[in-house]
Amino acid sequence: MNKKIYKLLKKKNNSKIICLTAYSSQTAEIISKYCDIILVGDSMANVLYGMKNTHKIDLNTMINHSKAVRLGAKNSLLVVDMPKNSYKNEKIAKKNAKIIIKQTKCDAVKIESNQKNFSIIKSLVNAGINVMGHIGYTPQFKSRFKVEGLKFKEQKKLIKEAKLIEKAGAFSIVLECIAKKTSEKITNSIKIPTIGIGSSSSCDGQILVTDDILGLSGFYPKFVKRYANLKKIIEKAVKKYSQEVKKGKFPKKKNSF
Ligand code: KIV
Repeated sequence: MNKKIYKLLKKKNNSKIICLTAYSSQTAEIISKYCDIILVGDSMANVLYGMKNTHKIDLNTMINHSKAVRLGAKNSLLVVDMPKNSYKNEKIAKKNAKIIIKQTKCDAVKIESNQKNFSIIKSLVNAGINVMGHIGYTPQFKSRFKVEGLKFKEQKKLIKEAKLIEKAGAFSIVLECIAKKTSEKITNSIKIPTIGIGSSSSCDGQILVTDDILGLSGFYPKFVKRYANLKKIIEKAVKKYSQEVKKGKFPKKKNSF
């Protein structure tokens, strides 16, 4: 087993697992000092490319950003999201996951669950590929945002889904926007770590989109905490630069050759 994944599995019930997303080498270099997992999420579709959802981001774009992230975070456990339609069936999934791993040198891929693709996870794992699952609000398959697991029937379904993903061989599962009671039950029902986003402190670890916590994305739902307001800082710097160029205050002699 991959040493980094072995180390991660040992964290369950011992210490919280820290995860964030990255799409560039610079961000990866900074966050790798503090994170157990770096995810190259397909959230880059919305966050970086201004798309209305994650459905159209392609494999090559995911690969190019992942290569950059790997350069910045040489020793981190790097997980790459498989974009929608890149794992339509076992054969396509295996072919694309192998391309992702070969080209990006990532440690694992993440695939969103549609409650049917357990056999795809199993076939990837059987091919020696480490897989992270993703349940709850799964943007590739759901068009409308909804908190999941509030009702008993939903809770039962999510617990079953998590158990089937574990049985298929995934090493971890992202729980997105799942009610606290249900997240707690899922976390206690499986041996692999759960990584929550909007799914309470009951999970074994937490993940957020880095651009959201830095105040860059403009997306701040209830489950996001903004730890900085980079939008404001960037605007202030750019405004000052623009004023100084206009007034002839920049560049100075010391900036010239
Ligand atoms: O694409 C992404 O960034 C994700 C996280 C939000 C878990 O899947």
